Amino acid sequence: MPKPRVLSGIQPTGNLHLGNYLGAIRNWVDGQEQYENFFCVVDLHAITVPHDPATLAADTYEIAAVSLACGLDLNYANLFVQSHVSAHSELAWLLNCITPLNWLQDMIQFKEKAIKQGENVSTGLLDYPVLMAADILLYQADKVPVGEDQKQHLELTRDIAARFNHQFGKKKRVLKLPDPLIRAEGARVMSLTDGTRKMSKSDPSEQSRINLLDSPDTIAKKIKRCKTDLVQGLEFGNPDRPECENLLTLYQLLSGKPKDVVAAECREMSWGTFKPLLTEATIAALQPIQDKYQAIVADKGYLESVLKQGREKAEAVANETLSQVKAALGYSVPL
Ligand code: TYM
Repeated sequence: MPKPRVLSGIQPTGNLHLGNYLGAIRNWVDGQEQYENFFCVVDLHAITVPHDPATLAADTYEIAAVSLACGLDLNYANLFVQSHVSAHSELAWLLNCITPLNWLQDMIQFKEKAIKQGENVSTGLLDYPVLMAADILLYQADKVPVGEDQKQHLELTRDIAARFNHQFGKKKRVLKLPDPLIRAEGARVMSLTDGTRKMSKSDPSEQSRINLLDSPDTIAKKIKRCKTDLVQGLEFGNPDRPECENLLTLYQLLSGKPKDVVAAECREMSWGTFKPLLTEATIAALQPIQDKYQAIVADKGYLESVLKQGREKAEAVANETLSQVKAALGYSVPL
């Protein structure tokens, strides 16, 4: 029996933060041996908002190195760069032609990002979820580990696949419908400056997030200044205390302690006692990732060979699906 297949992606825009790690990459790593895994740095998605050509390639390599440092095991995982596998762009075009425009106009992330862009909204930003659907469907993925914010894009991916199969796959199903893999805890890590808003790469305030490569000193400063409340004693599950929920959850996930142990430990604590504990747990959890990252970037040839091998494996699978899609659509095969 072949293993079920996993595909996920991450954009090379800005530094990776605790939300990316706890919501997504940790789920790529945990249980990776059960699956055949494809992970890509989605540099084609990165240009759907204004970008700097001078840093795109370096950012792409950096994100690949950080992802690897988080614990991907190359015995099970293939890591590659989206733009290196041209089938992604080609399938996105083909899927564009069967995706109703109003499905894309309804996407929450499009609406949120479009507001920020004002007059400068590109067609690519509207089309972002179709390219994401192409990423996933090319690999006939069974599962897609993502944070909560990507749930709607996953539903759209399933809708696109079902529509394609309905229109062009009556005799033989062409595209597999993937399931999202979203954890109960860590799927929505919140900002350090506002517990009701998602931690995000695009937040202009550096204080709002902890980046995976932040120094211990920076982590300590950010946690010292992070928003809390005036209540003594810390608790899970109180909707009036969003910062408390977020910071306790971070402590739980980064320390690796069970939730009930954390709840009991922190029940009577003041923020002044809790913050150093969270700082210590965060630094300890990120230290091995940072050490591994330094070793990886010190050897550029290694990273290049990982990405080359990943691309070769990815291309073989992606090109096979692309051929099936083109055949179903009635394209001629080049002589
Ligand atoms: P990106 O780079 O914006 O986010 C990468 C992953 O991090 C998760 N994430 C979070 N999880 C919890 N709390 C947060 N505050 C938080 N912020 C981000 C995201 O849910 C995501 O899983 N559209 C994707 C990239 C993509 C993709 C794909 C993903 C392109 N093609 C195919 C899966 C499959 C994205 O949001 O990237």
